[in-house]
Amino acid sequence: MRLDKLLEHENFGSRKKVKRLIRSKKVKIDGKVVTCENQNVDAQLQEITVEDTVITQKTHEYFMLNKPQGVVTAVHDKDHQTVVDLIKEEDYRQKLYPVGRLDRDTEGLLLITDNGQLGYQLLLPHKNVTKRYEVIVNERLNDEDVKSFQEGIVFHGGECCKPAVLSILSTSDNESRAYLDIDEGKFHQVKKMFLSVGKKVTFLKRLKMGPIELDQQLKPGEYRRLTPKELETLLPYFYK
Ligand code: URA
Repeated sequence: MRLDKLLEHENFGSRKKVKRLIRSKKVKIDGKVVTCENQNVDAQLQEITVEDTVITQKTHEYFMLNKPQGVVTAVHDKDHQTVVDLIKEEDYRQKLYPVGRLDRDTEGLLLITDNGQLGYQLLLPHKNVTKRYEVIVNERLNDEDVKSFQEGIVFHGGECCKPAVLSILSTSDNESRAYLDIDEGKFHQVKKMFLSVGKKVTFLKRLKMGPIELDQQLKPGEYRRLTPKELETLLPYFYK
């Protein structure tokens, strides 16, 4: 929604009055004085204030975690530490849950939020949200494998995967490193895809989910809030 329209809607007067208010530098977005009257704003993502009165508040929390190995992707677990246990902000913790699932021995990018709609939308199969993984396997990778992934891996039980992009970074007889981009999220998908071409995954790390990339500054176990820019890139997934 446009800022002037929003303020009009919030009873700050006519369009003319609202424009005057903005020009007099009394309106701020996320603490910064607004200079453009007709800029688009999003009440879910931005805090808008008029003369320091909060008009819209960000309603949700969004964290990016570099999941360490050994931690389960769950909200509660009686035996293991969970990804939500790693978030120190007690106030929010009860409301948070992970978007999607990484195995206990997988590390890397995991989004954690209390915005159920966003989590749901990001996981819908037809949204085709691409996930990038860094993978190490215990065998040589070759062009045949690239082709098999491109054509769509078929699991041993007959289940078919969508075409995926395998990019080999280094390869030798007993260890290869690659990136794998997939658009779906079947259970243990990456490990099962490599098993289907006869290779065992020995290390797995998610680097990217849709437009969000793992912050390389985050060590395993560390997390931070998504930046306004990152949240903006997620906007297409906020609504149906
Ligand atoms: N695929 C897997 O096999 N494991 C994960 O944790 C994520 C994707």
